[in-house]
Amino acid sequence: MRMDIITIFPEYFAPLDVSLIGKARAKGLLDIRVHQLRDWTHDVHRTVDDTPYGGGPGMVMKPEPWGEALDAVIGDAATPPRLVVPTPSGRPFTQETALAYAKEPWLLFAPARYEGIDARVMAEYGDRLRVDEVGIGDYVLAGGEAAVLVMVEAVGRLLPGVLGNVHSAADDSFAPGAMSGLLEGPVYTKPPVWRGHEVPPVLLSGNHGAIARWRRDEALRRTVANRPELAARLDPDVLDKRDHEV
Ligand code: ADE
Repeated sequence: MRMDIITIFPEYFAPLDVSLIGKARAKGLLDIRVHQLRDWTHDVHRTVDDTPYGGGPGMVMKPEPWGEALDAVIGDAATPPRLVVPTPSGRPFTQETALAYAKEPWLLFAPARYEGIDARVMAEYGDRLRVDEVGIGDYVLAGGEAAVLVMVEAVGRLLPGVLGNVHSAADDSFAPGAMSGLLEGPVYTKPPVWRGHEVPPVLLSGNHGAIARWRRDEALRRTVANRPELAARLDPDVLDKRDHEV
């Protein structure tokens, strides 16, 4: 999969050389190209922002550098990329979004600084390609770069061959499947007793049925405690009589 990122802070993306995503790049599973937006400015100050029409605080990113940068990166590709513009006022980025993006051959991220990008840029490219304005949560970051890092990691780990264990992504919180709608429960490893805390004995029992039941109970307990709004939306068919005792 190819991902392009156009930014005024290319150095922000150094972490993409590390760990899982770094290995996926080294293996050729993920082709990430980071571009400096200022390379498409033409004044000595390499200006990318200006004051907002209509007044108000902050600065707005100018359309011309974005237009030139996007044209250069997209080129005359027969299958253009999906353009992803992070903004707190976008549609929520969820595991479902990550799964949909993981099926795309090419994503182009356009993270903004300041108050955002002149809206005509999204209108212009919306006629030619799919443009998604997406938010990663109900809080405001200083810019879209951190949101892009989050999305690249969430999407990259879903690509075939990226996770060591092929089953790991299937058990994720929010993943579709047997535990659908439930958060993942607690996990344990050796030693069996640490500072007086014991691993729940059922996990050492070798009884796979009992272990599966316990994991489901814990997942449900955690979902009710941490995300009551998710618990309220659980499909009644995934619950059974015993769940009312949990
Ligand atoms: N830019 C600033 N805040 C953001 C958020 N919550 N999600 C995506 N992009 C952002």
